Amino acid sequence: MRIDIITCLPRLLDSPFSDSILQRAQKKGLVEVNIHDLRKYSTDKHQKIDDYAFGGGAGMVMMIEPIANCIRDLQSKRAYDEVIYMSPDGEQFTQSIANQLSMYKNIIILCGHYKGVDERVRQHFITREISIGDYVLSGGELAAAVVSDAIIRLLPGVLSDETSALTDSFQDDLVAPPVYTRPADFEGMVVPDILLSGHEKKIDDWRFDQAVKRTKKRRPNLLK
Ligand code: ADE
Repeated sequence: MRIDIITCLPRLLDSPFSDSILQRAQKKGLVEVNIHDLRKYSTDKHQKIDDYAFGGGAGMVMMIEPIANCIRDLQSKRAYDEVIYMSPDGEQFTQSIANQLSMYKNIIILCGHYKGVDERVRQHFITREISIGDYVLSGGELAAAVVSDAIIRLLPGVLSDETSALTDSFQDDLVAPPVYTRPADFEGMVVPDILLSGHEKKIDDWRFDQAVKRTKKRRPNLLK
């Protein structure tokens, strides 16, 4: 899979992709993440990428021209399955959308800033708009990193069997059951006996039961 992220703050995205699972996935060649600095696509001598809003009002608006140049340049090289705009008024990101996006070969993610992008970008270049939650971030970069992380860890070969994404919270509309590790007794706080029993079937049943209980208590909306 290839993910192209368009941003006016490329350095903000350096760290999330240069450590741990996301870094390993790239090194193994399972995903290619390319960060594009929007300013490089500006035709203005000051590399301007934003301007005042027509009609007045506070806040700058990201201009259509550099964004169109960048998206067209990418699209001239390969076909994209989706051109995503990160925006607080987009569709709410879920595990199910992460699963869908992880099936794609090439996606573009555009990070918004300031008061947003010129509406014509959304009308003519964007195929999907995604929000990571009902709060406003100072830009779409962290949201793009969240979405990319959720997608990349689903790609075959990225996670080892022990950490398989199939047992994640939400994958089956249940939150994950509690987990414990050594010591079995910490100052009288003990691990449930069943987990020490070695009885695989009983442990699986206990975990499922705990996941259902937790989901009922914490996220009843997930239970259909
Ligand atoms: N940009 C600013 N806030 C955002 C959010 N909540 N989700 C996605 N992109 C954003």
